[in-house]
Amino acid sequence: MARKKIALIGSGMIGGTLAHLAAKKEMGDIVLFDIAEGMPQGKALDLSQCGPVEGFDAKITGTNDYADIAGADVVIVTAGVPRKPGMSRDDLLGINLKVMKAVGEGIKNNAPDAFVICITNPLDAMVWALREFSGLPHNKVVGMAGVLDSARFATFLAWEFDVSVKDVNAFVLGGHGDTMVPVTSYTTINGIPVNDFAKIKGVSESRIDEIVDRTRKGGGEIVGLLGNGSAYYAPATSAIAMAEAYLGDTKRILPCASYVDGKYGLDGLYVGVPTMIGAGGTEEVIEIELSDEEKSNLKVSTDAVEELLEACKGLDSSLA
Ligand code: LMR
Repeated sequence: MARKKIALIGSGMIGGTLAHLAAKKEMGDIVLFDIAEGMPQGKALDLSQCGPVEGFDAKITGTNDYADIAGADVVIVTAGVPRKPGMSRDDLLGINLKVMKAVGEGIKNNAPDAFVICITNPLDAMVWALREFSGLPHNKVVGMAGVLDSARFATFLAWEFDVSVKDVNAFVLGGHGDTMVPVTSYTTINGIPVNDFAKIKGVSESRIDEIVDRTRKGGGEIVGLLGNGSAYYAPATSAIAMAEAYLGDTKRILPCASYVDGKYGLDGLYVGVPTMIGAGGTEEVIEIELSDEEKSNLKVSTDAVEELLEACKGLDSSLA
């Protein structure tokens, strides 16, 4: 069987972490792309030299030429600018939209059969724009956010209850902004609904609300702590889980920014929803029953995404 090829567009902190994880897992050969000369080459050389110590076989190369991503099975896009303390993800719209245009064209011309996972912010708008610029089918372009947001929610709940993170199945819907919707009604501690578990453990509803709020602001908390950059370990880990589901055709149900057309009352929008990922890309969006309150929270979140798409169309006439 031919070795798989994973192209990473953007060789910053997330790109480097993605390359390291993909190499350790021997997911295939890795091409690190960046427009900054020397950086992807230097990182590729450094990472290659982990191979003998960690015992992985992966050819890792760095490049500034899109032609080198040709034939990639998976492309993970982290290119663009991260926010700084005090900024919102939406403040990156103008600058990162231009980056998505170049990346989308690079993918279209060199790796049109790839499964493309976008991490660049503001996520839901950037994955939509990347799809538009690349022209790939909707099921082959997806955004990484729900896995990350759900992982944050699960981490905070595990800490609160002092239980293993392995037993927490947390769930976040909606856009990857401060209006995202952590859904407690579908969050369980080893099958026990989280609100019931909270009662058993004597944890108040208001404490769960605080955890929901911390989850919503989870990216900003890390941006504030780092001072110059945003999270990279958990975003990279989340995208790798999605890539593995695609390459292994495992049919995992993961919360991802998928193209939703007709479900959740949405009409052609990329937003975080439970999605089955397999060899066909995003094979199915799963529509779950929501309470009236959850529905109205989701609407606030999807309206915010729609506003960003309008802003993208205003900034780039080819999107209108
Ligand atoms: C995150 O959630 O960590 C990323 O979207 C980066 C950010 O700016 O918050």
